[in-house]
Amino acid sequence: MPRTPLIVGNWKMHKTIQETVDFSLRLKDEFAKEKDPRVEVAVAPPFTSLAAAAKVLRGSPISLSAQDVFWAESGAYTGEISPKMLADVGCRLAIVGHSERRQYFHETDDSVNRKAAALIKEGLIPIICMGETLSERQGRSTLSVVEKQTRDGLKGLADKDPENLVIAYEPVWAIGTGHTATPQQAQEVQAFIRQLLGEIFSSRIAQGMRILYGGSVKPENIADLMAMEDIDGALVGGASLDVQSFAQIIKGAQPSKR
Ligand code: 13P
Repeated sequence: MPRTPLIVGNWKMHKTIQETVDFSLRLKDEFAKEKDPRVEVAVAPPFTSLAAAAKVLRGSPISLSAQDVFWAESGAYTGEISPKMLADVGCRLAIVGHSERRQYFHETDDSVNRKAAALIKEGLIPIICMGETLSERQGRSTLSVVEKQTRDGLKGLADKDPENLVIAYEPVWAIGTGHTATPQQAQEVQAFIRQLLGEIFSSRIAQGMRILYGGSVKPENIADLMAMEDIDGALVGGASLDVQSFAQIIKGAQPSKR
């Protein structure tokens, strides 16, 4: 089943409001140059920049994503942001369970699961991140780690209209290190994730779901990654902060270039 590639720029804790506006204007220009953009694109600025990015990107084909969310609708949760607030500011997607949040902020598969369910309920698309650490890979437990993250993270979502849900496989050892997984390494795990999605949902739903790869994606390696059967796009960190390199990654992900 053909799946439209999706490229998401995760800015992490980078860019002020003004830098966000400048970037968004330039990205819109770059996108306008592509006559036939067969790639979906989203940027995930920090919370403080979402409103400014939404204003610039409104009416453009570039979607807005948040980097995190809290599952409650509203309430006494100091510092948190609800799915409704993200929808209100113009987000279409939200990243959940990024390894940095798991590592530094004690995110668990259970919280990832609650966040994903809350996003779907609000009509937003969760990008659920998962991936093994270096020691887990060296200990040959990559597939069991990813299986647990998938099964626990997606628990109960089968009856919640999961069609639009996006998975991002991001091996922790590849994030911000320059050590990209080889296309074969990523493909092996992503094919396994799709098989799990088939068991959890149905093979029809699994075939339509996008599984992104993340971890040191650059203009130089995007085409080789995208050539793999089960790699449907990328979650890009460092290389998404520069308009030129992000635009080149988008270009490299075009189906015709594969
Ligand atoms: P880098 O592309 O900087 O390795 O980051 C990947 C990532 O964590 C995207 O979410």
